Amino acid sequence: MRVRRPLRMRARNRYGTRRLKSAVLAASGSVLVAAACLWASPAAPQETASAEHVSARTALGRRIFFDATLSEPHGTSCASCHDPAHAYAGDHGSGAGVPAGSRPGTLARRSTPSLYYLRYVPALSFHVDEDDRRSHDPQPYGGYFWDGRSDSIAELVRQPLLNAREMNNRDIVQIADKLRRAPYARAFEAEFPGALDAPEEAVKALGLALESFLTSPPMAPFTSKFDDYLRRQATLTAQEAEGLRLFKDPRRGNCADCHTVRDASPVPELSLFSDYGYEAVGAPRNARLHVRDEDRGLCERTDTTKPSSETRWCASFRTPSLRNVALRPSFMHNGAFTNLRDVVRFYATRSTNPEQWYRSGVPFDDTAEAYRSLVNTAKVPYNRHPGDPPALNDDEIDAIVAFLRTLTDRPR
Ligand code: HEC
Ligand code: HEC
Repeated sequence: MRVRRPLRMRARNRYGTRRLKSAVLAASGSVLVAAACLWASPAAPQETASAEHVSARTALGRRIFFDATLSEPHGTSCASCHDPAHAYAGDHGSGAGVPAGSRPGTLARRSTPSLYYLRYVPALSFHVDEDDRRSHDPQPYGGYFWDGRSDSIAELVRQPLLNAREMNNRDIVQIADKLRRAPYARAFEAEFPGALDAPEEAVKALGLALESFLTSPPMAPFTSKFDDYLRRQATLTAQEAEGLRLFKDPRRGNCADCHTVRDASPVPELSLFSDYGYEAVGAPRNARLHVRDEDRGLCERTDTTKPSSETRWCASFRTPSLRNVALRPSFMHNGAFTNLRDVVRFYATRSTNPEQWYRSGVPFDDTAEAYRSLVNTAKVPYNRHPGDPPALNDDEIDAIVAFLRTLTDRPR
């Protein structure tokens, strides 16, 4: 047997995000054995104080992330929407499921994803999933944002900064001016000599600093009860264990089909609760939004080198990781749900009692009519018909919710 280097150490490479993901995918067959032998060895790596060591670039990125002068008007930082108290998700106090922007009365287009575990999101690619023996048709995986439209954290940060519905800066000149006046300007200059002199260079450097912070080890803590359970350091209650069983059972919840879990392995990186694939789940309309933008999801991606703009990918969104899901104030790309139990109940009854979810009387009412036939009606748990018993009963829904609550990392 070949002994692998611990995954956790590979994960520390600065640009290791993609490599780690492919390592996880490539290793999925043999890693259980490899992981088991790592675990048996007393030298197995532990998160130590040194893992918390923060480089100057990471520390700078953190200060930028919390800087509320980087919006127009001032007052909105990255953390206003990506709030540490909500696992770096949140609605910036809007109560609307999607976050408020820096200008009064503005709302962003989609709900805010958690930024924990971002380092594991791979770049967008189409490939045949080794685990999916039923399909030889390449499927999309990865890319940042709900629609996978970016492959680079360092570049995508311009989007919230310049988006009129988010931080509303006029242009990169305005952003560079703010960086020059920031209390961390000296640290910025030390890390990126000369960058502050030219807006393009300044914004590039800002992107690298934020990327360094967002992919640093503390942003992937693996400190939940479930992680302790994987490490054989905690036990699940009977209800949580039943929830995990239903979550994995392909004939019941079937959740793990997309929200990946490998609980036979003590390596928490293998249980990211997303395969980063795309799916049209048919989330209902967010009743709190009066103005609705049509949202076509993955097919909005403009990159012509990938087939992502084909019509078949309209209405598909990237599967979110469910780590820390209980800390989210709203759920789904459009923030339609405010209660975790409702999301699980939606999965259980979407096909059997559609009237409970689509108040307009039209199934999949938040999906443009042209794309409604693309919503998945073939998969467990939503492959039933009106009048059938729900895929999960009330106790089973409660068990899955109890299990999902074990995915919350310890507060720091
Ligand atoms: C007004 C609220 C708001 C602010 C401020 C904001 N974001 Fe976001 N962020 C969002 C929303 C909403 C999305 C999802 C957008 C989408 O998918 O189209 C998002 C997505 C992201 C993503 C992609 C996450 C993933 O899982 O793919 C990253 C990274 C990110 N934001 C970083 C930042 C950084 C860094 C800042 C500060 C420069 C910032 N955001 C400021 C609301 C905000
Ligand atoms: C076929 C793939 C697939 C299956 C099966 C699946 N999900 Fe999902 N899940 C998704 C996708 C894709 C989304 C995002 C949908 C959207 O925003 O429109 C999602 C969203 C969620 C969310 C909201 C998370 C957030 O950050 O907003 C929760 C909670 C969730 N799923 C739980 C479950 C549970 C529990 C099950 C099993 C009963 C399940 N999922 C089965 C793909 C799947």
